[in-house]
Amino acid sequence: MIFDTHAHYDDAAFDEDRDLLLTALGQAGIGAVVNVGASMESTKRTIELTRQYSFIYGAIGVHPSECGQLEESQIQWLKQQSFQEKIVAIGEIGLDYYWDEPDREIQKKWFCRQLNLARETGLPIIIHSRDGAKDTLDIMKAEKCGEIGGVIHCFSYGVEMAREYLNMGFYLGIGGVVTFQNAKRLKEVVEYAPMNRLVLETDSPYLSPAPYRGKRNSSSNLPLVVNAIAQLKGMEPEAIEGITWENARKLYRLK
Ligand code: NI
Repeated sequence: MIFDTHAHYDDAAFDEDRDLLLTALGQAGIGAVVNVGASMESTKRTIELTRQYSFIYGAIGVHPSECGQLEESQIQWLKQQSFQEKIVAIGEIGLDYYWDEPDREIQKKWFCRQLNLARETGLPIIIHSRDGAKDTLDIMKAEKCGEIGGVIHCFSYGVEMAREYLNMGFYLGIGGVVTFQNAKRLKEVVEYAPMNRLVLETDSPYLSPAPYRGKRNSSSNLPLVVNAIAQLKGMEPEAIEGITWENARKLYRLK
């Protein structure tokens, strides 16, 4: 069975066929999905999805690009929700210097606040870091994130950065990008990282693997990612499925 550690099924891209698609995932070999909040709105919809589908767990948090209007009262609301049984992580949180809005200092402020929220709640973190490698790592070291634990979602940096995060005890989220021909850097990271620290993710509806690049993604495309990792690791796809399933359960501390 396959564990999708990061998807956004609350996204409007699924409005027309969400239930049909989600109820078919089991037959496609998908055993569990973590739906990840990116704003206050999507966090609310994430919580609803965890109530509707037994195999969906939730992460709650506010993405760096969405934190411009955030207020402390909303962090307190997130904290209250975090104690629900199927809420397994704080995320996605971090820094995004690709879109570069809101102001970097504002992004950093709410990143740190949500790291503390993870500490307060005892939940692992899902990190979003785009074009902000150094600042993300500096903050995570200063905040001693190794004590919190979690995953670097859609890992997009090189082997040097991978080593830093692996040393902090983090998992690396690997998705559709690993199937792209030009993804040399990520392929090197997958070869380098120990198998017990990799988890599968889609970031649905984004980042479809080849040959569906550019189309709407869903968890049922994950066998393509499994095959790409199997090839890089010289292992059988079944073994990759089994190991990443166990890794995901450890990451999100599922019993
Ligand atoms: Ni995401």
